[in-house]
Amino acid sequence: MSLNILVTGGAGFIGSNYIRQVIQTHPSDRIINLDKLTYSGNLENLREVADHDRYEFVHGDIADEDTVKPLVKRVDAVVNFAAESHVDRSIRAPKVFLRTNIDGPHTLLEAARAAGIERFLQVSTDEVYGEVLTGRSAETDALCPRSPYSASKAAAELLAHSYFVTYGLPVLVTRGSNTIGPYQYPEKVVPLFVTNALEDKPLPIYGPGTAVRDYMHVDDHCRGVDHVLRHGEAGESYNIGADNEVDTLELAASILKALGKSDALVQHVKDRPGHDQRYSVDARKIGATGWAVRYPFEESLRSTVEWYAANEWWWKPIKDGEYARWYEEQYGDARDNA
Ligand code: NAD
Ligand code: TYD
Repeated sequence: MSLNILVTGGAGFIGSNYIRQVIQTHPSDRIINLDKLTYSGNLENLREVADHDRYEFVHGDIADEDTVKPLVKRVDAVVNFAAESHVDRSIRAPKVFLRTNIDGPHTLLEAARAAGIERFLQVSTDEVYGEVLTGRSAETDALCPRSPYSASKAAAELLAHSYFVTYGLPVLVTRGSNTIGPYQYPEKVVPLFVTNALEDKPLPIYGPGTAVRDYMHVDDHCRGVDHVLRHGEAGESYNIGADNEVDTLELAASILKALGKSDALVQHVKDRPGHDQRYSVDARKIGATGWAVRYPFEESLRSTVEWYAANEWWWKPIKDGEYARWYEEQYGDARDNA
């Protein structure tokens, strides 16, 4: 299947990895990348494909109808990665999450409906299930989001599903687990801990550090999204997970060990309000369609740590400017009150 795809949020972490993967693995696909270039969008993430003849970049907002409509008319499929993506930022300033994560998908859905496109994939998250202390979340489970971020992502999914039911738009949803790998903005826990450790700075652990996540390599997540785009059934949602259960203390210890740094860098700070203690998805549904994880957790973490160690040129400049302000706001008083 050869596709013209509108990828949104393609200058961010997962979107940029997805674009590289599609350009490499689907030799006749064409990609338009629509990205607003917010604090987490970075065209350096796409250096290798910037001049590719099957790739085009458009600077703009997914919630802006005039930008979106003509672009959607030019493609067969939309893959919507664009989002405000960080839980802690959603706790401090939720408003922009509603515009980008709800109005944005709605604007794309309307344009897709008008254009009659073949596939609309909404990239969602395992966080829509809310905290799952035991067992695994199946796609049929109720959504119970508990942060402004996950609530906005759940709203987008429900809206997307309503466009399938009401207008017959061929909508697909993926619910991926925590993702790690190259080009992840260092506000998320893995690149934050790795780059802090490389700089001999403390690793801030929220509360006791017992919260569990299923960390998955970005290549696996991107292959899952692409698999669902091409082989998923319209109107369906698909979990994508790697079957790992790692808590923050273990994660910090593994990173420090991989870099040969002291455990003394671990610093417990004030907990995140409403901190979800565990996510865990049952990924058998996508598995039954032929997708499987390729990276064991240890290899995924090791290669990620190595990438940050080898690519200071990418993350050092990010850690100045907006990031430094964010860090002080988020961790300044947490340090004082820990
Ligand atoms: P990211 O923050 O690295 O990238 C988001 C991108 O969206 C950036 O390039 C940003 O500039 C762009 N963007 C933001 N607002 C926009 C707007 N209004 N219009 C156009 N572009 C805009 O995020 P990520 O980690 O790559 O996440 C991508 C998607 O995957 C998100 O939808 C997120 O909810 C989902 N997801 C992420 C994870 C994870 O662990 N990172 C896990 C599951 C699902
Ligand atoms: P994060 O990367 O923000 O992803 P999620 O959206 O799943 O919350 O955080 C992953 C886990 O790491 C989560 O349990 C919160 C914890 N964490 C810390 O302990 N310290 C930190 O500085 C950050 C950013 C996260």
